[in-house]
Amino acid sequence: MYVGAVVRFGLLTTAAINRAILGARAEGAPFEIVAVGSRDASKAEAYAQEHGIERAHGSYDDLLADDGVDAVYIALPNALHHEWTMRALAAGKHVLVEKPYTRIPEEVDQAWDEADRRGLVLEEAYMWRHSRQTQLILDLLPQVGEVRGVHATFTAMLTREDDPRWVPELGGGALLDVGCYCVSAARLLLGEPDRVHGEARIGRGRVDTQFAGTLRFGDVTATFQCGLRSSFSNTLEVIGTEGILRVPSPFVDPPGLVVVNGEEHRDDAGNHYRFELDDMCAAISGERGVLLGRAEMRGQAVVLDTLLRSAGI
Ligand SMILES: NC(=O)c1ccc[n+]([C@@H]2O[C@H](COP(=O)([O-])OP(=O)(O)OC[C@H]3O[C@@H](n4cnc5c(N)ncnc54)[C@H](OP(=O)(O)O)[C@@H]3O)[C@@H](O)[C@H]2O)c1
Repeated sequence: MYVGAVVRFGLLTTAAINRAILGARAEGAPFEIVAVGSRDASKAEAYAQEHGIERAHGSYDDLLADDGVDAVYIALPNALHHEWTMRALAAGKHVLVEKPYTRIPEEVDQAWDEADRRGLVLEEAYMWRHSRQTQLILDLLPQVGEVRGVHATFTAMLTREDDPRWVPELGGGALLDVGCYCVSAARLLLGEPDRVHGEARIGRGRVDTQFAGTLRFGDVTATFQCGLRSSFSNTLEVIGTEGILRVPSPFVDPPGLVVVNGEEHRDDAGNHYRFELDDMCAAISGERGVLLGRAEMRGQAVVLDTLLRSAGI
């Protein structure tokens, strides 16, 4: 595609999180949302009407056969990400796929090999990495001196009875749903871990409803807690030789606030979903590669899988 061309996105599902992508539409955006596909044609129709989307498709295959779609946003339950990414790439579509892509590193290899072979763009949708607040964290990090420890949390109370997060076969569980952000944060700050350990509480639906992990990077260890049956929490703390950096809300609706040794630093947070889409579009038009490339996606899969195995999952 040419620089400046508007990328025509199709939504592959009517998932709840589509709201964030639809909410990132604005005058002058480098993308538009032209189609939606659902397993249920009437659902797709109603969804298209409600959200002002031109075309509705009664199956994901029909969406992928739509010549007026350049790229798809895949927000399926986790265990279906790989299959539909491969199908979308085979249909010649660029793919923005929700996190976590997979726990299987070989699936990341297959997807990237296919995307590269076809000259298509692929990105995993860790929106928090695109936020200005995350850049602020990186800018302020040197102020804490040498990092001695990192701790992250992401917990919530999941109430939906029919949520795929309760289903192991659909890639459910706390680590894959919310703990993956804590892993992403530890890896952003410290690199690739050389040893990890996980402890899980197995609950409803036989998934991990609470998961605690340690990630060892040389002589620095990161720890995290995540859960689906707990009070809401999303925090990040970096302990250094010269001080403490705290992020009150690193992942969810980042307010653009980082606290270093008690002093508040602020930036206009912006809309991280919009920045994520801008990043995809810049890569599609050939301006640059995606922020979260192959190594990043593979690194997430390796660590998530090793943590799950360590906890016997
Ligand atoms: N980046 C973020 O901020 C963020 C936030 C929340 C979730 N997520 C990720 O986004 C993905 C979707 O999460 P969500 O909470 O939006 O999901 P959701 O509301 O449960 O929607 C999932 C969609 O997948 C489709 N689907 C296909 N097979 C299904 C099956 N067997 N069971 C259930 N749904 C099925 C359905 O679409 P149709 O009925 O239309 O076919 C459904 O609407 C997950 O990977 C999650 O980790 C990301």
